Amino acid sequence: MLWLLACAGTEPAPDTTPTWTEDVQPLFAEHCAACHASAGLAGFPLDTYDEVIALASVVATSVEDRSMPPFLADNSGECTTYSPARWLTEDEIATVVDWVDGDTPYGPELEPVEPTPVQDLEATHVFTTAQPYTPTFEGWDDWRCFVVEPGLEQDMFLRAYQVVPQNRDMVHHVAIFKPISDLSAAQVRSFDPDGEGYRCFGGANTQAGLWAIWSPGQDVYRLPGEAGVPIEAGMPLVLQFHYAPVEGEVPAELTEVRVELTTDAPPLLPLWVLNDDFELDPDTPNNADSQSRTLREMMQELGWDDYAESNVALHGVGGHMHLMGTSLRAEVQKSTGDECLMDIKRWDYDWHDIYMLEEPISAGPDDVVNIDCTWDTTGRDEPVYWGDDIEDEMCTILVLAEPTDPPQ
Ligand code: HEC
Repeated sequence: MLWLLACAGTEPAPDTTPTWTEDVQPLFAEHCAACHASAGLAGFPLDTYDEVIALASVVATSVEDRSMPPFLADNSGECTTYSPARWLTEDEIATVVDWVDGDTPYGPELEPVEPTPVQDLEATHVFTTAQPYTPTFEGWDDWRCFVVEPGLEQDMFLRAYQVVPQNRDMVHHVAIFKPISDLSAAQVRSFDPDGEGYRCFGGANTQAGLWAIWSPGQDVYRLPGEAGVPIEAGMPLVLQFHYAPVEGEVPAELTEVRVELTTDAPPLLPLWVLNDDFELDPDTPNNADSQSRTLREMMQELGWDDYAESNVALHGVGGHMHLMGTSLRAEVQKSTGDECLMDIKRWDYDWHDIYMLEEPISAGPDDVVNIDCTWDTTGRDEPVYWGDDIEDEMCTILVLAEPTDPPQ
C-alpha cells in the first residue's frame, strides 16, 4: 500500500500513444486495405494486428517517407492538390510513427473498421483480350499489348472505367491507347492478327494517344463533371498490360476492362507533351532536360485542330518515364504567372496514375506547358536516347483538357 500512497498527488500524464484498435486499424482500413487485404496485389496482407506488428518498423518507414501508400505526385499543396489522392496527412503519419515508437499497443477490444467495399461500375461495354494470356518472365516483367475492337457504330465518350484483373498480384498496370489515325489503327491490327498480343513497353509501338490508364488500388475511375474522352466509331483500342512476376506457377490472366460510354458529352481531350530529343550522358546520376509546348501545338499534334484556338480547363495529369527516371515536374506558364501542374520528386516506374486536379487550371492556346525531367544513368556505358524499349528513356506527360469555348 505504501507505494500507492507515494504516488498520490502526482497524477500520471495521460498516455497519448495511439493504439491499434482505436487509431491505427481504422487508418489502415481506409488507406492500405485496397492493396494489402489478403490476396491483394501487394502480395502480403496488413489486415490484422499480428501481420502489422511483424513489419512494424518497415511500415513506419514506408509511411514516413511517403513510399506508402504509393502516390507519386506531391499532394501537399506546395504544387497543387488532387482528388482522389492516396495521401496521408501529417497527423496520420504521426499516428503510425508514434504507435510504432510506443511499442505498438493493442488498445481496447473493438470491432475492426471494415474497408469501403468495391462498388462495381454499371458498364455499357466490357473489353477483354480474345483469350487468356499466360505471361512469361525471363528476368524482366512482361509488357504486352492486345488490340481490341469495341465495334462502335457511332462516336462515343468515355465517362468512367474499372479494370478487374483475375490475378491482382500479377497485373501491375493497364494503359489503354487509341490510335490517332486510320493508318495507325491499321498498323496495330497488323501487329496482333490473331489476338495473342505483341511485345510492347513504352507505348503501343505506333502513333497512339493514351485513352485511359489504371493502376492497382484504383477502383472505379470517373472523369470530372460531365466530360468524356472521345472514341471514334470503328476505332480499335490497344490494351497494354504490365505483368509483374509472381511466386510459383504463372497463372493465365483474362482482365476485364469495364467502361461506361455515352453518345454525348463535352469532350475531355488527352493531350501530351513529349520530350523526345534528349541525349543523356552515360554513367551520370543527374541528367536533366526540359521541353515546352503551347496548348495550340498540343492540340494540333494529336489532330484536335478544331480546338486549336480554344481556351481549356486542365483537369488531369500523369507522367511517363522509364526505369532511369528520377523526377518529373510540369507547370503551365501563363502571362499571369506559372501554375504548378504536377511535381513528382521521386519517379517510380511502377506507379503510373492520372492525377485529377481539385482546382482545374484554365489556360489559353498561347499558354505553355513545360516539363522538366531528371534521370540517373549510373551503370550505362553509352548515351541514352528517347525510345520505346526498356533500355531507352522517355519524358512525357499526359494532360486531360476540356475545351471551354465551342469548337471553331
Ligand atoms: C495502391 C496500392 C497500395 C496501397 C494503397 C498501399 N500499398 Fe503498401 N505496397 C503495395 C505494393 C504493390 C507493395 C509491394 C512493393 C512495391 O511494389 O512497392 C507494397 C509494399 C509495402 C510495404 C513493404 C515495404 C516497401 O516499402 O516496399 C509496406 C511496409 C507497405 N506496403 C505498407 C503500406 C501501408 C502501411 C499502407 C497504408 C498506409 C500501404 N502500404 C498502402 C501497394 C500498396
